[in-house]
Amino acid sequence: MGLTKEEFEKLRRIGAVVAETIEEMQSHLEPGITTRELDEIGRAVLTRNGAQSAPELVYDFPGATCISVNERAAHGIPGDLKIKAGDLVNIDVSAEMDGFFADSGASFGVEPVSKKKQALLDSTKEALEKAMSMARHGRPIQLVGRVVEGLAKERGYTVIRNLGGHGIGRGLHEKPNFIPHFYDRSEKRRFKEGQVLTLEPFLAFGARRVDELDDGWTLRTENKDLVAQFEHTMVITRGEPIVLTRRASETY
Ligand code: CO
Ligand code: CO
Repeated sequence: MGLTKEEFEKLRRIGAVVAETIEEMQSHLEPGITTRELDEIGRAVLTRNGAQSAPELVYDFPGATCISVNERAAHGIPGDLKIKAGDLVNIDVSAEMDGFFADSGASFGVEPVSKKKQALLDSTKEALEKAMSMARHGRPIQLVGRVVEGLAKERGYTVIRNLGGHGIGRGLHEKPNFIPHFYDRSEKRRFKEGQVLTLEPFLAFGARRVDELDDGWTLRTENKDLVAQFEHTMVITRGEPIVLTRRASETY
């Protein structure tokens, strides 16, 4: 999409609301809290900002946010599950305001976090940052998969292949659809200035796929081992992308 100044401003605002929502939920992440309680905290931030949960609005998802614990990669339904020490918790928030959408996710370790889990988190974050630094006008979209898979392989992780980045803006999912985080030689598209899209690599211990559980939503790794994800919404430019969902507390 070509972006007017007003459109960019609306995207920037919903991006900031999404970032604030994740941050507020993260600050309450401790052993004993249920994923439903976390979701209520997230919903309150969206509501007080005048934003609507995108998964509810677009897909009738049974919750305001997606909270996926340990081997669950994405689309976890908020419920009675209690967070435990050592868990890896992925909080994915997407929301709409004034006709524009933003989408961001992050995996957090609940203390104490083993070295092995912390290394998975750090590598996944690094993979996203590296992919974002490559994404600019005129470059092949294929580069994302090259750098993410390259980093993952080097460190002994796998990349989930059936989840990808996506265009976003006036809808939650727009063109370019499915941006692979693995090296796909058939991927021939190029980034274009003004594109609004997400990158959201999932790194795992051996899994290359996620499967849907019987609840009709939750996506779990095929080998039931751990997974981590980080996601940002960004605007493609001729230089580094403008990241719309950066959190104040984020380290990178
Ligand atoms: Co997301
Ligand atoms: Co997304």
